[in-house]
Amino acid sequence: MAITVKDQIFSLETANTLYQMKADLFGVVKHLWYGEKTGVSMEYLLDYPDVGFSGNIYEAENDRTYSLNTMPLEYAGSGVGDFRVPAVTVRHADGSQALDLRFQKYFIRKGKYSIPGLPAVYAEENEAETLEILMKDTASETEVHLFYGVLEEADVITRSVMIINRGSMPIVLERAHSLCMDIPDGNWDWIHFHGRHTMERQAERTPLFYGIQESSSTRGTSSHQQNPSVLLCERDCTEKDGECMGAVLMYSGGFQTQIEKDQLGQTRLVMGIHPDTFSWQLEPEQNFWTPEVILSYSANGMAELSQRFHHVIRHNVCRGAYQLTKRPVLINNWEATYFDFNEEDIEQIARQAAKLGIDMMVLDDGWFGKRDSDTSGLGDWEVNEKKLKGGLGALVRKINDMGMKFGIWFEPEMISEDSELFRAHPEWAISIPGRKPMRSRYQLVLDMANPEVVEYLYQSISKILRDNHIEYVKWDMNRSISDWYTSILPAERQKEMPHRYVLGVYELLERLTDEFPEVLFEGCSGGGGRFDAGMLYYCPQIWCSDNTDAHERTFIQYGTSFFYPISAVGSHVSAVPNHQTGRITSLETRGTVAMAGSFGYELDLNQLDQNEKEKVAEQVKAYKEYQELIYGGKYYRLSNPKKDDLAAWEFISEDCSKILVQGVAFRAASNVLRHRIKLLGVDGAAIYRFVKGRQKEEKLSGKALMTGGILIPAIKGDDVAFEFYLEKIEEC
Ligand code: GLA
Repeated sequence: MAITVKDQIFSLETANTLYQMKADLFGVVKHLWYGEKTGVSMEYLLDYPDVGFSGNIYEAENDRTYSLNTMPLEYAGSGVGDFRVPAVTVRHADGSQALDLRFQKYFIRKGKYSIPGLPAVYAEENEAETLEILMKDTASETEVHLFYGVLEEADVITRSVMIINRGSMPIVLERAHSLCMDIPDGNWDWIHFHGRHTMERQAERTPLFYGIQESSSTRGTSSHQQNPSVLLCERDCTEKDGECMGAVLMYSGGFQTQIEKDQLGQTRLVMGIHPDTFSWQLEPEQNFWTPEVILSYSANGMAELSQRFHHVIRHNVCRGAYQLTKRPVLINNWEATYFDFNEEDIEQIARQAAKLGIDMMVLDDGWFGKRDSDTSGLGDWEVNEKKLKGGLGALVRKINDMGMKFGIWFEPEMISEDSELFRAHPEWAISIPGRKPMRSRYQLVLDMANPEVVEYLYQSISKILRDNHIEYVKWDMNRSISDWYTSILPAERQKEMPHRYVLGVYELLERLTDEFPEVLFEGCSGGGGRFDAGMLYYCPQIWCSDNTDAHERTFIQYGTSFFYPISAVGSHVSAVPNHQTGRITSLETRGTVAMAGSFGYELDLNQLDQNEKEKVAEQVKAYKEYQELIYGGKYYRLSNPKKDDLAAWEFISEDCSKILVQGVAFRAASNVLRHRIKLLGVDGAAIYRFVKGRQKEEKLSGKALMTGGILIPAIKGDDVAFEFYLEKIEEC
């Protein structure tokens, strides 16, 4: 039993962790523990100091030590004496905002709960258990149902919240976070992932300060600028040692992560939809579900924590025919042609790609409507026969005849003012009556909160997929959203729109992925502007960044790897000088970096010389050989590229028998020792043989690989890639 209840203490146990809370005499649910298994109640750790200006609930009478403001709460209401960041805020019909949540009852069920209309972790009936705790604000009859999914083997706990208005008047949710977690001390570092377009998910680690620290997005998407994932770790936590816990929000819209270190040095973490772009009106008996948060904890450092997230996202979040299988190596024409192509250009690229072993041709932006530049055409999802003479069907057949699959680009949520769609339905573009909307990349955004828009997109996209043998869709989204307003809601409910927009996107994705389960969907938003676990529920891979520079990619992929599996990271070899940075790196370096992901090419292969073509063919072959290890093996970060002068990473098979180490040494210097990298997670009691990267037959013990490490080859020049492949040959 993963979930046990004794004396109103709820214990959620996974293979290695314990999550514990208690409903006390007053019905207040206190958080007791999230950490290693201890086998006992952790209630003894609760302290009850009499802290000035921390008031007491009425029922506590003259007990000045019983304060909601000082105790760890499981899901903090608001306006009744806890002055830390709340998890939920409700405006009642009389204008008051109090929510005093007290325990009522609980339910335990086999299997994992699901969430209507939202992506959520899924599991077999015997793989998970669900705990539902019902809390209530009695005065207003507002019910808050806390849901916990316990995936015992995966060492994962999920949380979501459902709020029901049982009163007789409407209420308005002004904040409804998915997660609230109080931790009894504040000596933590937090790692969050900031960035910008073409430089996403830069890991930043800082000690918590007193007060509120936040990472968030109000852009209508999870964003390039921050990511809905956060890691808390002990000050001296490393990749292989120390306590850490992580939380990932399965949501693709605006989000907020707040961490408050309070007056007593305790830490509260809340995470959910960003309240600045959210509110939700609930009529009597209506309910609202928050998105889900995935939680995990490790006592053994950040690598183990990352591996748990990789595993659960691959096995219990991603879906579809390509969830766990190898993905096709693709060639994408974007950086090869941009908008300037015709069917012959595409055929030529594909023909060359087929010769080099590439599996799929992806036709990017520009194939539809009047789309000769980014100023027009979005919304008109019909082939542009001026560019592709003979139509899409003929091109797909030709590509298929070359032995290649065919994939195509869409940007469903967008509309150009210069488009047939805009001329027919200007009211479908988001704008506030009486104001000119912001344009971004010259385009406007479709009102995905409007079911008519979702229906139009479903009809036009599904028709293309039905009429043509398309095996891959790149789902792009190329701007942030402002000017929130929808004609489908009355004035007082306009703040519901950003969340309704996300629900519309999910509905469209659900309908299409359900109808075309064999199609591989790849998410994208100007590269990795919507790289989140919500999108991964529909798209098992996401284009990681519009930055294809191998050097900069090592930083982006490093940050991405903390939570997201390598199989999810769309990663391509592009031309040099690189189109984003102008940097020149070798084909080896570009190949090595792109291999740490879902691999492909994005350049005109016909421009390569014979020698380069041969190298591409070798890379494709090598990737196919390693792909199972790269996707299914355990991933370790062996360096921090921001601090060390190199990026290095490792894939090791579950049984520790195969190891692939790859990396890039950034800078050459004269008269220096070679870099040394220490492997992680290796079988210390075994002997390994180098198959690649050192003299064949050279052997080292697992212990030596982990403690002494390996010297990487001496480098001449900057950004030089290295690679070792080792196999276990015997036990020591
Ligand atoms: C975005 C994507 C690119 C490409 C272009 C096309 O920027 O991230 O890969 O598809 O759009 O306009």
